[in-house]
Amino acid sequence: MSRILTGVQSTGRPHMGNILGAIIPAIELANNPENDSFLFIADLHSLTQIKNPKTLSENTLQVAAAWLACGLDPNKTTFYRQSDVPECTELAWYLNCFFPYQRLKLAHSFKDKSDRLEDINSGLFTYPMLMASDILLYDANYVPVGKDQLQHLEMTRDVASRVNNKYGEIFVIPEVKLQENTQLIPGTDGEKMSKSRENTIDLFQDPKQIKKIINKNIITDDTPLEAPKDPQSSTVYQLFQLIASSEKSLKMKENLKAGGYGWGHAKKELVDELVNSFAPQREKFNYYLNNPSEVESVLIKGAEKAKKVANTTLNRFRKTLGYNI
Ligand code: ADP
Ligand code: TRP
Repeated sequence: MSRILTGVQSTGRPHMGNILGAIIPAIELANNPENDSFLFIADLHSLTQIKNPKTLSENTLQVAAAWLACGLDPNKTTFYRQSDVPECTELAWYLNCFFPYQRLKLAHSFKDKSDRLEDINSGLFTYPMLMASDILLYDANYVPVGKDQLQHLEMTRDVASRVNNKYGEIFVIPEVKLQENTQLIPGTDGEKMSKSRENTIDLFQDPKQIKKIINKNIITDDTPLEAPKDPQSSTVYQLFQLIASSEKSLKMKENLKAGGYGWGHAKKELVDELVNSFAPQREKFNYYLNNPSEVESVLIKGAEKAKKVANTTLNRFRKTLGYNI
């Protein structure tokens, strides 16, 4: 049995790209009985960017509701909020004291964020050590992440090896499980769907809004209705084939190629598919948003399970360092 662990920042309401590219693949891993999985909402990391208390807690609720609505089973997965296990901040401090300042200075994500953001705080700088702490605290074997997180994983392995070289086997050295993201979900403008590009599709919103977004924001060319159209270069088709059955996708492809089938027809089919195939998740998402205490109790139970593991690891290290436990 392998321990799989991954975290997601709570920076907003998850969109279709997040759901198909990250949430659903992680739930599949978590539901595999061969894995013992830890999945958490990295709300302490979010503080590097979000300073509004209401936004911070609302984001956590929305992210938790999205995971639960998409099928995360809290009986099979330890599902918790990072800030409910403050042990990770203590371990992060220790790790900071073992990791060279010069190496942290080489972090790409810090450079990237400090070019883009106004609030360049020290939390952004030491971000990788809090992330290393999230992972090492739970003796994780595998950490599924996207390519952008590879350097953070290297730093995690590095700091864990530095500690182990000095004191013996304190930490499990985790391995990265690269999510290839073959599924790069396009946004309404055909580019990668992303909050920062404002090209997202919110699958949880009211079906009328979904229709409006698809009709208004996806630009199609002016090929006449009768003329054949190229499915591959069309965002409507690309999105459709991600969620529709292979029979339905093939049918749309053939219709587009044959001509006599317009973008309006294709958009209508896409809207129907987005609305219908996601209806159960939409209903559950809204249920959780309206029942925050239920989400809260799931997260609190998860935190209790997580804390037990966290304290065992932390005590092992505290004792090694010479602190009273
Ligand atoms: P955003 O770009 O909207 O800010 P995040 O960077 O918060 O999204 O991404 C959270 C997770 O969702 C990451 O694991 C990322 O790889 C995945 N993800 C985001 N957008 C897409 C997309 N368009 N296609 C596939 N995966 C995506
Ligand atoms: N840094 C990750 C991201 O932005 C989120 C994260 C925090 C994480 N702690 C983690 C991911 C531990 C994996 C393991 O996506």
